[in-house]
Amino acid sequence: MKYKKASDVKVGVIGYGGAFNMGRHHLNEMKKAGMVPTAVAEIDPERLKVADQDFPGIERYATVSEMLRKSSVDMLAIITPHNTHAKLAIQCLKAGRHVVCEKPFAITTAECDAMITEARKHKCVLSTYHNRHWDGNVMQAVKVIGSGAIGRVVRIECHMGSWGQPRDWWRSSKSISGGVLYDWGVHLLEYSLQIAKSEVTEVNGFAHTGFWASKTRWKKDTTEDEGFAVVRFKSGTMLTLCISSIASKGYESWVDFTGTKGAYIMRGGDYDLITHNGTDIVKTTGANPPSEGWKLYQNVADHLVKGKPLVITPEWARRPIHILDLANQSAKTGRALCAKYG
Ligand SMILES: NC(=O)c1ccc[n+]([C@@H]2O[C@H](COP(=O)([O-])OP(=O)(O)OC[C@H]3O[C@@H](n4cnc5c(N)ncnc54)[C@H](O)[C@@H]3O)[C@@H](O)[C@H]2O)c1
Repeated sequence: MKYKKASDVKVGVIGYGGAFNMGRHHLNEMKKAGMVPTAVAEIDPERLKVADQDFPGIERYATVSEMLRKSSVDMLAIITPHNTHAKLAIQCLKAGRHVVCEKPFAITTAECDAMITEARKHKCVLSTYHNRHWDGNVMQAVKVIGSGAIGRVVRIECHMGSWGQPRDWWRSSKSISGGVLYDWGVHLLEYSLQIAKSEVTEVNGFAHTGFWASKTRWKKDTTEDEGFAVVRFKSGTMLTLCISSIASKGYESWVDFTGTKGAYIMRGGDYDLITHNGTDIVKTTGANPPSEGWKLYQNVADHLVKGKPLVITPEWARRPIHILDLANQSAKTGRALCAKYG
């Protein structure tokens, strides 16, 4: 192993944005796993100043090229708008740096495949920041559903949204974000794929556009008012994903699992388990355990130092993107599309 201990791994971030202070969050999580915050690349000089306040003396660069030329940083987290992930990841991998790309891994399957090829070629670690893999709600769902409490899982329904004009930020641009399904949709899919372990065979996508478009700064490039995907798995399980800005009714839950013997309703903070005792319906509500997203960088550090298996492999991160990519294409062509290594 190249690294004897986690503190041998010098880490940096690309993008130190202000929306959720994710650059600071990543560097703190990497530090918690024992790695050493070393460099920041950010095109906004004001945000570079904030990085210096948060991590005094940290190397600061106005471009990724300059960082790769001058810094000996070993691993980079890419925390930029979605349409930049693939290009920046490939640039870093070509320079021999390990990469943890924020979710979504990329926008298209072709981008994912190009990133995976580059990582293999340069023998670099490539992962995605699927910190929500360790959210309390999904860990609890995996435990309860995995125990057989609802029988065989037949249907998974993922949904999120409300009624309201898309916010004035890059997430509301289709060409930058990938579309309405790519932000929270990728989290909900990654949760669901932990339970529907089977291969994806087919995806049908639907989109409604144009209701909000004229009112936003992005006009025709505004994300869909609502995106919808229907996914068929080899096992026979089906999944739907709906993310909407025209959902007047709203959604009470995040993911609903219907099994042969019961149902599991997953929310952010708690869950319902609905089962049957003869003709009686038995409903229990429980609290989700605390989330453990810090395990992501702990696993990455253990992988680099001790050779432990990587949990969020690029092949794993490709799965939800392939669904979203097919849903996008299907919505355009108006017919279902077959999955390739789903
Ligand atoms: N995992 C999570 O829970 C979670 C939470 C929030 C955001 N995210 C993800 O993090 C990513 C960033 O989102 P955000 O909300 O932090 O956005 P943001 O707009 O706050 O920050 C993005 C930053 O990237 C910078 N940037 C853009 N192009 C760059 C380049 N070529 N080189 C250097 N810097 C560049 C911008 O100047 C900006 O400061 C997205 O992929 C988003 O989905 C994930």
